[in-house]
Amino acid sequence: MSKGKFIVFEGIDGSGKTTQIQLLQARFRAASLPIYVTKEPTDGPIGAVIRNVLNKRIKTSEKAIAGLFLADRLDHIENPINGMLGQLGQEMHVISDRYYLSSYAYHSSHVPLDWVIAANAECAKLLRPDIIFFIDISAEESLERLKKGRAFLDLFENLERLKSVRANYMRAIERVEKEENIIRIDGSQSEATIAAEIWEQVQEIL
Ligand code: ADP
Ligand code: TYD
Repeated sequence: MSKGKFIVFEGIDGSGKTTQIQLLQARFRAASLPIYVTKEPTDGPIGAVIRNVLNKRIKTSEKAIAGLFLADRLDHIENPINGMLGQLGQEMHVISDRYYLSSYAYHSSHVPLDWVIAANAECAKLLRPDIIFFIDISAEESLERLKKGRAFLDLFENLERLKSVRANYMRAIERVEKEENIIRIDGSQSEATIAAEIWEQVQEIL
């Protein structure tokens, strides 16, 4: 039986997930609540293969890529040493930067959304998030933020890609909103406003 709560952050790149996870972790610490912060792709061996795919050192098919993320996720859930189910069972609350909604959004550009949802059905069965925060910002705003942090960006390609992933998130959320507890957060607000909104929601499920 899981005792801790499982909180997931989702959004396009640059939406503010890392920032808000750090702020939420600080709130947990200040309240003396045990918290384990993790992410996908993981730092495990399957995550390492995925990073080699993302930086184009390894080339494979889109279904195989979705399959690698699925394998990484199953390991993330069930790994006997540091898996999330184990952490939750020890009364730790868990925050993950991305989970299966990322797969729905990122892979459904290349393979059918239904296929991705079906492939991830076991993950939803094993561990469904208590709450998913979808931090929503426009592709344009995301690009502005990413430009500040990086030396080079192919602007057109990235704007188009961000727009398409955001649209895919919307479509995926509409598809699964009956089964999932997804809270949309307006990510264009200040960091402090977003953090306060998130903390209010989290307190309701603790
Ligand atoms: P992600 O983890 O989703 O990629 P980050 O938290 O790394 O996003 O944020 C991306 C960039 O946007 C960082 O430079 C961060 O400082 C900035 N940022 C985060 N939240 C906000 C916000 N609410 N308003 C303006 N800029 C933000
Ligand atoms: P990373 O640099 O860790 O992302 P970020 O800091 O933006 O969260 O790279 C993760 C990338 O992998 C990101 O672009 C989203 C993508 N991704 C998928 O394509 N499928 C998935 O199932 C997950 C979890 C992530």
